[in-house]
Amino acid sequence: MRATTNAKLLSWVEEVVAMCQPDRMVWCDGSPEEYDRLTNGLVKAGTFIPLNKKKRPNSFYCRSDPADVARVEEFTFICSANEADAGPTNRWADKDEMKARLRELYAGCMQGRTMYVIPYSMGPIGSPIAKIGFEITDSAYVVVHMHIMARVGRKVLEVLGDSEDFVRGIHSVGAPLKDAKTPDVPWPCNPENKYITHYPETREIWSYGSGYGGNSLLGKKCHALRIASVQARDEGWMAEHMLILKLISPDGAVKYIAAAFPSACGKTNLSMLKPTIPGWKVETIGDDIAWMKFGADGRLHAINPEAGFFGVAPGTSMKSNPNAMRTLSANSIFTNCAIRPDGDIWWEGIDGAPPEQLADWLRREWTPECGRNASHPNARFTTPARQCPVIAKEWENPAGVPIDAFLFGGRRATTIPLVTEAKSWIHGTFLGAIMSSETTAAAAGTVGLLRRDPMAMRPFCGYHMGDYFAHWIRIGQQAPAPDKLPRIFYVNWFRKDDQGKWLWPGFGENSRVLKWVVQRCENRVDAVETPFGLAPDENGLDLSGMHFTAAELDTLLQVDRAALLAEMDDLRAHFAMFGDKLPPQLADELETLGRSLKG
Ligand code: OXD
Ligand code: MN
Repeated sequence: MRATTNAKLLSWVEEVVAMCQPDRMVWCDGSPEEYDRLTNGLVKAGTFIPLNKKKRPNSFYCRSDPADVARVEEFTFICSANEADAGPTNRWADKDEMKARLRELYAGCMQGRTMYVIPYSMGPIGSPIAKIGFEITDSAYVVVHMHIMARVGRKVLEVLGDSEDFVRGIHSVGAPLKDAKTPDVPWPCNPENKYITHYPETREIWSYGSGYGGNSLLGKKCHALRIASVQARDEGWMAEHMLILKLISPDGAVKYIAAAFPSACGKTNLSMLKPTIPGWKVETIGDDIAWMKFGADGRLHAINPEAGFFGVAPGTSMKSNPNAMRTLSANSIFTNCAIRPDGDIWWEGIDGAPPEQLADWLRREWTPECGRNASHPNARFTTPARQCPVIAKEWENPAGVPIDAFLFGGRRATTIPLVTEAKSWIHGTFLGAIMSSETTAAAAGTVGLLRRDPMAMRPFCGYHMGDYFAHWIRIGQQAPAPDKLPRIFYVNWFRKDDQGKWLWPGFGENSRVLKWVVQRCENRVDAVETPFGLAPDENGLDLSGMHFTAAELDTLLQVDRAALLAEMDDLRAHFAMFGDKLPPQLADELETLGRSLKG
């Protein structure tokens, strides 16, 4: 399939062919036949193992190279003309120097391989909020993932027509073969050279050496967050690392909530949560990314630019997330979990006792006694969103859904209370800007360290974070109707007591916090003022049927003033990083916080 006469597109593809020298080139059509052809090829190559058809039809198991298991922030670059455009939270490289370095690596890098050109739309094809991109890749694993995670195929080319408004992505696993007959390894990658590079000025992405997740599925983090955040800044909209959920109260009232939590902090779980409080229902719009524009009604409307879920598998079970488990019942791909002798998947935390024997993600025999985990902590499932039993009927509405509330939050064992509401849009922007979380296995590096992760966008903001804060403030100022802006809340499901025991059960019980959020949005409950925002009063949260001692509740709901005061120096250093790009309103909020903690 070529099916395009778009001269800019064709000449770019020709340039990439000349540089990468693939053995063959395929224009992807996004069809089920293409999916089957590629998955069959991946099975033949030893990359995929078909799962037991009776247990999990049309699903595949895959193990990556142990040197390629997570996003590599250390090798992720924003490449622009001026270093100041990348800011202190990104790695910067001069755009021309980086391209020169990569051209050397790309020269002949697809030899012996097939090059796929994937036309994709992030968001429902033709939606005024959606955007088009092309990923050129030499990985069939990437193509089948893009089939699930984005809208791929001819229709995208039709909608694009002759327009030049598309993101150009090049991806190579960086493992050329002598020729097409040379045997391949199951997971080709380049352990020595990995580069995930972005050129926001020209809307380009060049990725080399990794086949995993956000490093290689360029529609996701690279396009829908890093490049899109720059487009959003330039065009007056928002591209955020947020799930989107629909909450239906017992009287049938509907609210839409978008929530920004860092990677592997429960966005997928919250987006399809099964409420424990009677009469409440959650439906899913998206689990990772939200693109938002003001609608004619003056409200911020959000779409989920993705079409699938690329979720963290370990810990997912019928108890923690029954709707995810049901979504995964067919047509899914599992990477780096373990495989059972009966041909189904297994991971730590899945339902039931561990089987007596397994093959682990490193292809070794595993028994419950062997003392190691069977799956990698960043093992993932890839599954179509439309299969989710609680997907909202409007999830593909091209106009998006109007957002009532934003939640920010991270993993904090101490200091930060279960929920508070920001006093204003600017205060909410401030709470987002000082967000912090303990690091997880979603990115390569040490797990469990505290890091500031503003709006959960630290790894994903394609420009200077100080300018990004200013953009948030500008959105508040430009809102056609300020009272229709989403209300902003800060949550922490992860508070522990002095003995290290979780104070809050999380998962479906988080619906109690969502209920409070809705009641605040409807001005139906009072709140008490604290240094960290407006908190539920003693009867504010619906805790019926739960059992807490007074001391536990106190710890859970109160900001630990002394601990937060002790963080003031760290917070000042965090803000100092942004230099004169820090909006003065946020510096003022920080000093107000400091004063109120002392007072
Ligand atoms: C993800 C991530 O995969 O945030 O969504 O790392
Ligand atoms: Mn994410």
